[in-house]
Amino acid sequence: MNAVKTYSKKYQGSASKVFLVAGGRPNFMKVAPVYEEMKKYPAHFKPIIVHTGQHYDWNMSDIFFKNLGLKKPDIFLGAATGNHGRQTGRIMIEFEKRLLKEKPDLVVVVGDINSTLACSVAAVKQRIRVAHVESGLRSFDRSMPEEINRVVTDAVSDILFTASENDETNLLNEGISKDKIYFVGNVMIDSLRKIKKTAQKSKILKKNGIREKKYASLTIHRPSNVDDKETLQNILNAVAVIQKEIPVVFPVHPRTMKMIMKFRLLSFIKNLENLILIEPLGYLDFAKLMVSSKLVMTDSGGIQEETTILNIPCLTIRENTERPITVFEGTNTIVGNSTENIVSKAKGILNSKRKAQLKKAPKFWDGKASQRIIKVLKKKF
Ligand code: UD1
Repeated sequence: MNAVKTYSKKYQGSASKVFLVAGGRPNFMKVAPVYEEMKKYPAHFKPIIVHTGQHYDWNMSDIFFKNLGLKKPDIFLGAATGNHGRQTGRIMIEFEKRLLKEKPDLVVVVGDINSTLACSVAAVKQRIRVAHVESGLRSFDRSMPEEINRVVTDAVSDILFTASENDETNLLNEGISKDKIYFVGNVMIDSLRKIKKTAQKSKILKKNGIREKKYASLTIHRPSNVDDKETLQNILNAVAVIQKEIPVVFPVHPRTMKMIMKFRLLSFIKNLENLILIEPLGYLDFAKLMVSSKLVMTDSGGIQEETTILNIPCLTIRENTERPITVFEGTNTIVGNSTENIVSKAKGILNSKRKAQLKKAPKFWDGKASQRIIKVLKKKF
């Protein structure tokens, strides 16, 4: 993606200059609604989209801008991937340069990826205020890189926007002052609701020879699942059993493909007759894939929330979740990563005549979270 170098001229006058940070796939659908809402108030805000470059492939980044109707980033840092230290460090170095040059009044970060941590820390050190969207999520599992990113980002942020009521308790327990916290709801659901109808036009089912509710979908990419050979093999063994019952569509994340190759597991999965291996999908195709699935199996955070709103049974291949509301109120079940448990829970759903079990949509997962965010920010800026 090319940097647009001339944006600063457009932004003159008294409106607050706001950097909206997007780095990776799960960020784009959170930034888009905030950007769109901010644009409605030009007297208050001059929003500038900063892409860190953490994700850089077409199907991990550009296609999301296209699918969301989001303009190209104003600033592209090109701080591509590497180990955590290198990636975080490079983003901080490049982001700080832009902070010094542009002197924004506010930096908005979303989610919990390395870009979120890097940009929030760089900004507060320049004494620039930071707002964190999707604050207060906790898995209480510090072996997860995202958990470290969440704790650090929340600790340094000035304004904390939470998606669910219980997230505030996590922040208060860490000594964060209540007057920084605003319960605004789930901004990712704003995007999902917006594109749901358009996504119905996706040809993804036809393209893969599958039919409505006659297949399961799978995504895995967490280091805890894919970076260890035995664990990855356990999960794939479960998939090998499940695909005998129902076709399984598996869009393979780049990290996962790398590890599958490294552990020489590619021929094992390629030989599974009913497992459909595909490239990572764009937002519209993936939304269609999800909504038409009989069952979704995943280790993603966002998909736990999306399946809840779409009322699709979700099995989360992890030992914990930072999104407990999707279990208590939604359609999510935590199944861990043992072969037996994944298989037995999947068979339970596939053989059940009962419909999915969403009790009620969590509060403020109503498509209006970005409006609430902007309402708060308008009062402050
Ligand atoms: C990151 C986030 C994770 C999020 C996930 C969604 C952190 C710590 N993790 O994990 O929370 O759920 O994004 O995808 O920030 N790669 C490509 N092309 C790309 C992007 C990555 O090939 O466009 C490769 C990289 O070279 C690397 C691997 O995928 O080897 C992992 O990328 P990285 O950004 O480090 O983390 P993710 O596993 O994607």
